[in-house]
Amino acid sequence: MARRPLVARSVPALRTIVSRYRAKRETVALVPTMGALHDGHLSLVRAARKRARRVIVSIFVNPAQFAPTEDFKTYPRSFDADLAMLAAHKVDLVWAPSVAVMYPADFSTKIAPGGPALVGLEDKFRPHFFGGVATVVSKLFLQTAPDFAIFGEKDYQQLKVVTRMARDLDLPLRVIGVPTVREKDGLAMSSRNAYLSPSERKIAPLLYRVLKDTAAAIRAGASLSATVAQGRGAIETAGFTLDYLEARHAETLLPAQFAKDGPLRLLVAAKIGKTRLIDNIRV
Ligand code: PAF
Repeated sequence: MARRPLVARSVPALRTIVSRYRAKRETVALVPTMGALHDGHLSLVRAARKRARRVIVSIFVNPAQFAPTEDFKTYPRSFDADLAMLAAHKVDLVWAPSVAVMYPADFSTKIAPGGPALVGLEDKFRPHFFGGVATVVSKLFLQTAPDFAIFGEKDYQQLKVVTRMARDLDLPLRVIGVPTVREKDGLAMSSRNAYLSPSERKIAPLLYRVLKDTAAAIRAGASLSATVAQGRGAIETAGFTLDYLEARHAETLLPAQFAKDGPLRLLVAAKIGKTRLIDNIRV
């Protein structure tokens, strides 16, 4: 049976273990997660394993990145199953603080990211989100002091925000992005896919099909604005409530009018029933 990873639940316990790695000059990679792990997370763990001698996975459902109207309370939590998956992937250490450890009662500091965090995509629909993510991720970085931090490209804007934050704050680590893992029908893996009813689950892969078709048409020289408008129509016709489908510069995430404004990334967010899905693709 695979050996279960160590589990640290307090900052001093975490630091004791990490300083043992450091004393042996072992490199460390961090995979930040909110748990409810799936194959997408495991691909991040594999990428971490390739880069570093020690792999730490954090599991923390971060209340600061949920609005009061969002799903913090019902967000899927499956700690024991997560631990078994991480054991099978030979993860060294799981950092699983409680909310009280991460945010003690008098906690009063926030990171306010700019740049790619303020471009009118996720930030427009979830204005509290990147402040919460940047604050917890900077804490996770300082707590675990990794050489590498591994994030999925599925949350593409988050990847850009965290990369910029690490650079702006001179944090001594490299942020690595890992391609999205998809179900056989193209749906991007996400812990929130568990919310989809069977009929919604059937419709959900349309988002990726639209991304692929739109990217192919832009690459083939079709008008960017007309093609994106057509994609928006297809998503709404299928029954989604569309938040955005946008072509953006792949690094700055600023709006792009023409293919020559690239490299481009297409990003989408849409609700099917009560479940909000996001996805993106390189053009
Ligand atoms: O992508 C996530 O799971 C979360 O936003 C993260 C990066 C773990 C911060 O809570």
